[in-house]
Amino acid sequence: MKRLTTSTGAQLVLRPFEKTNPVDLREVVRIEREGYADAWDAETFLDFMEEGSHCMIAESPEGSIVAFMLYAETKTKFHIEDIAVQLASRRSGIAKTLIAELMERMVTENKRRISLEVRKSNQGARDCYLRLGFIETRIKVGYYDDELGVEDAVVMEYRRAKVARAASRSRSR
Ligand SMILES: CC(C)(COP(=O)(O)OP(=O)(O)OC[C@H]1O[C@@H](n2cnc3c(N)ncnc32)[C@H](O)[C@@H]1OP(=O)(O)O)[C@@H](O)C(=O)NCCC(=O)NCCS
Repeated sequence: MKRLTTSTGAQLVLRPFEKTNPVDLREVVRIEREGYADAWDAETFLDFMEEGSHCMIAESPEGSIVAFMLYAETKTKFHIEDIAVQLASRRSGIAKTLIAELMERMVTENKRRISLEVRKSNQGARDCYLRLGFIETRIKVGYYDDELGVEDAVVMEYRRAKVARAASRSRSR
């Protein structure tokens, strides 16, 4: 459990999703529905976690869940599979805080990148990631093919800077 203050001054507690707590799953699904027309259901979330994905919960100090981030990891990177903030809490720095936490873990867990896919039409989310230092690396044509129709995905990545090593190399020459 980690207590943080967002960029707009809101108090936030970050903690792992608790599989044994039915409230966590219920709230994740509620926030998911607020965020997406093609929302994943409870079973899909459980399947992701069964396959090794992690879910980070953001809640108020009073314990009401306001956001979540589902992510997978490999030896070298994190991949954000889903992130959503409840409607009433948007634009108060919560996604930024969740992603900043993952960026911090990149250092301690020696990951090089964070990647994700986002719908081309989801300009708000694309702007959010750009603002946090992600770059758009490529397009996956027709990646989303569901009841909403066919849509391209934009692949975005955040790359950890190699500042320390580059600096020491340039000093020794
Ligand atoms: C995208 C989403 C997660 C952003 O969450 P949030 O908590 O509102 O974002 P933050 O307040 O942390 O914003 C961080 C930065 O991104 C920018 N940003 C966030 N939402 C934005 C939007 N809709 N349009 C433009 N810029 C946006 C802000 O400028 C902000 O920086 P600043 O406030 O310092 O200027 C949220 O809108 C959401 O849950 N959307 C529905 C689900 C979704 O689309 N998820 C992403 C799928 S890939």
